[in-house]
Amino acid sequence: MSGLLYLDHAATSPIRPEALEAMAPSLTRDFGNPSSHHTVGEAAAYALDDARARVARVLGFRAGDVVFTAGGTEADNLAVKGIVLAALARGRSHVVTTPIEHEAILESVAYLGRFHDVTATLVPTDAHGRVDPAAIAAALRPETALVAVGHANNEIGTVQDVPGIVAAAQGVPVHVDAVQSAGWLDVSGLGADSLAIAGHKLGAPKGIGALAVRGRVPLEPLLHGGGQERGRRSGTENVAGAVALATALELADGERVAVAERVGAQTARLIAAVLAAVPRAALTGDPIHRLPGTAGFTFDGVSGEAVLLELERRGVVSSSGSACAAGSDEPSHVLLACGVPPGLAQTSVRLTLGRQGLPGDGPERLAALVAASVAAVTS
Ligand SMILES: Cc1ncc(COP(=O)(O)O)c(C=O)c1O
Repeated sequence: MSGLLYLDHAATSPIRPEALEAMAPSLTRDFGNPSSHHTVGEAAAYALDDARARVARVLGFRAGDVVFTAGGTEADNLAVKGIVLAALARGRSHVVTTPIEHEAILESVAYLGRFHDVTATLVPTDAHGRVDPAAIAAALRPETALVAVGHANNEIGTVQDVPGIVAAAQGVPVHVDAVQSAGWLDVSGLGADSLAIAGHKLGAPKGIGALAVRGRVPLEPLLHGGGQERGRRSGTENVAGAVALATALELADGERVAVAERVGAQTARLIAAVLAAVPRAALTGDPIHRLPGTAGFTFDGVSGEAVLLELERRGVVSSSGSACAAGSDEPSHVLLACGVPPGLAQTSVRLTLGRQGLPGDGPERLAALVAASVAAVTS
């Protein structure tokens, strides 16, 4: 393995060359404001509409359902706050979610509690981070406004039974955070009422994302101004980002099945080799229902941060879990919610592969580097 091996694709991925190429005209020739009523503006509006229709097709929504945002955090905030604020007028002030969600969901729910007296039920997961749809059903109340779940967890890679959760929600709107799963898994058939994605996780640049929300679901906007995005998100649109998002999402979706098979097989080899080579290593997340490229471990008795430094010295760049939490001394809220003791949670290391996967004997060579790094910090 020569050069640096970047294995932190759950944090962010590089832009695909096709997406970079596709967005260039919107930054140069077709630079207009899509709200302007002249030919330069119309060219931008055409590019934006085309991108919206393409994103909608991959996500399984109507073009008019897609709201472009600045990323995954904004899409989750708009869904959680926007749907619940709209439902408050109908006396609905309760949210059902889980303790392993991304902060974009958990902190939005906390905000609603602080300022709008919204209450929340956090439905526990099993030790692998899976939620039982029956437990979602049991948490519903007459005043429940929203069920919010992640399709795939960013720290441990566990994939939820979203169709089961949607069925269990009995008509209560279900928001699905598909930031980690879009491009890797089919998200079009989940039955979600709203779906959040982020460009930079799937080969588009940072600064663009989308929330798809079905027309029947009332949504209170969070950004007020010129009424762009059908009044749901004011502000001049990031046309170039939207074009790049549509391009990257379509390409990733087209390759999805083959990539999941190839990268999934490599990740399985990596997991097996690490568990065989490192004493007291344990896999985090669900052994079966998991993202194809995510391999998370705890290494009992060593510091995860120290292992990461040793890995980087050996040319492998990875992380302990969420990029938001990286560098903090707090153990991961996801691992704690899965019942991992705080001390053990601080030993975690997450390797996340990109769509290219690893070179030929990469999984076994990488596992040997992991083993050597753990051995180097074992006192
Ligand atoms: C599951 C999940 N949701 C939301 C986000 C936030 O997305 P962004 O970084 O685009 O704001 C992330 C980013 O790590 C994520 O993994």
